[in-house]
Amino acid sequence: MHVRAAVFDAYGTLFDVTAALRAAFAGDPAMADRWPRLAEDWRRKQLEYTWLRAVMDRHADFRRVTADALDWALAAQGIAADREGLMALYDRAAAFPEVPAVLAALAARGIRLAILSNGTPAMLDTAITAAGLRGVFEAVISVEAAGVFKPDARVYALVPARLGVPPDETLFVSSNGWDAAGAALHGFRSVWVNRTGAPPDRLPAAPGRILDRLSDLPAILAEAP
Ligand code: LAC
Repeated sequence: MHVRAAVFDAYGTLFDVTAALRAAFAGDPAMADRWPRLAEDWRRKQLEYTWLRAVMDRHADFRRVTADALDWALAAQGIAADREGLMALYDRAAAFPEVPAVLAALAARGIRLAILSNGTPAMLDTAITAAGLRGVFEAVISVEAAGVFKPDARVYALVPARLGVPPDETLFVSSNGWDAAGAALHGFRSVWVNRTGAPPDRLPAAPGRILDRLSDLPAILAEAP
């Protein structure tokens, strides 16, 4: 496979936001049954708000959208929580444990590494630093450069514009099926890391590869085109 660059989604693909919430609520019996729904509502609303704002032509950055979604998720269960504390947890979500080794394996093959995320430059900078990944990525591309969220075509177009590598020589890796579909639609070699065993999305394009785990990624680079 002739791949010159690998571009990663951030939240859910490299950074494990759910683990941060689990850790925050682990010692709180009152939250034991409630935090999984809080986490699910927060993520679902966050994504819905990105798509709705795009359709409404009312962009606001991902930090604002993430805070709005958190407010909705807390209100849905009547939870009085430390909102700023939860936002700070989101910012500092750790990388999944397999991430450093996967990135190192790709870099060892001479593959250029980048991120393409809905996150703001400041959010991504904080997460990369907290995960100990500073200096690993040649480019950290935020949708803020396009002023609209994934899966808008203008977002995916930021990648070849920034790296100078055509999409068909760029691996795009996301654990979000709809994001992997968006990248496939725009010509990337798209890989969906289906961590949760979800059914494939019914969308106008499909990822070229589906992996159960991110750690399987280096092996597919050894395959013929
Ligand atoms: C991102 C969201 C979609 O990082 O996870 O772009």
